[in-house]
Amino acid sequence: MSLKIEELKNSQIDLNRPVILYDSPDYKVAWVGSAEEFIFRCNAYLISSGGINILIDPGGIQHFPQVKDRVSKLIGNPANVTHIITHHQDPDVIGSLPEWLKINPEITIITTPRTKVLIPYYGFDRENVNWLDVSPLDDTIIDIGSSSTLIFLSAPFLHFPDAFVTYDAKSKILFSGDIFAAIQKNWELIVTDMEKHKKEMMYFHVYYMASQKALKYFVSKVKPFDIKAIVPQHGSIIPEEFIEDAFDFLSGLKCGIDLLYEESPVRSIMDEIFGES
Ligand SMILES: [Fe+2]
Ligand SMILES: [Fe+2]
Repeated sequence: MSLKIEELKNSQIDLNRPVILYDSPDYKVAWVGSAEEFIFRCNAYLISSGGINILIDPGGIQHFPQVKDRVSKLIGNPANVTHIITHHQDPDVIGSLPEWLKINPEITIITTPRTKVLIPYYGFDRENVNWLDVSPLDDTIIDIGSSSTLIFLSAPFLHFPDAFVTYDAKSKILFSGDIFAAIQKNWELIVTDMEKHKKEMMYFHVYYMASQKALKYFVSKVKPFDIKAIVPQHGSIIPEEFIEDAFDFLSGLKCGIDLLYEESPVRSIMDEIFGES
C-alpha cells in the first residue's frame, strides 16, 4: 500500500523528521510541518516526484528553519523546491515565502489572483517571481510529470474570499488549507478519536469560516472525489475512515455570520476542550 496513513496510526511517529504519508518509487508525499507546542500548530507538506518538488503552505517565518530542515532531509538542497502552493495569504501559511525565494528565486508560486495581490507585502517584488494563477472556475490543473495531476478547487470564503484547496490524483490526498483544521490542546498527527476531533474542528471553524452555506457548497464540490486522506494546515490528518463523518459535520455546521444573531457554541466548546479555568 503506497498510502502510509494506516501504518502511521499504529506506530510511534518521530515528529522531528519529515513524515512520509505516501510512498511509491516515483512519488512521495510528506508532512514537513513544525513541532511547536502551540494550539495553532502549523502543518506543511511536500510532494516530490521526478525533480519536481512542491511545497504546500510552508508556514510562517518562525517555522522556516524547521520546515527547511525537514525538506532538506527529503530532497537534499532546499533550493530544489520548484513550486510553492499557498492556499491563502495568512502569515501562518506563507509568511516564510521571502526566505524560500532567497534560496531559489525561480520557484513558481501557485495561488489565486486575490492571494497574489496580497502576499508580495511579505517583502518581495511581484514582478520578479514566477506565478501560476489558479482560476476560481476550478479548471486549473498541473501535471507532475507522468506521475500525477494536481487539481485546484476554489473554496470561496473558507476563510479567505479567494481560498482554494488542492487534490492530488495520485495519492488521493486533499490538501485542504484551513478547512478541516482544528485547534487542539493535545495535538496528534492523525485523528484517532473523531468525536473529540469534531469539537476541536468546530472551535476553529465557528470563528474562521464564513457560513454554513459556504461549507455546504464546498463539501458538495469535493465529495465526489476519491479522497483517502484530508490534510489540513492546522490540526490533524483525517484518515479515510472518518472522512464521511467530517463531510457531514462541516456541511451541518453553523459558523461565521450564521452565529451573529444566535448564541455561539464557542464558550461551551472551549470549556470542554480546555477546562473550566
Ligand atoms: Fe487562515
Ligand atoms: Fe491557518
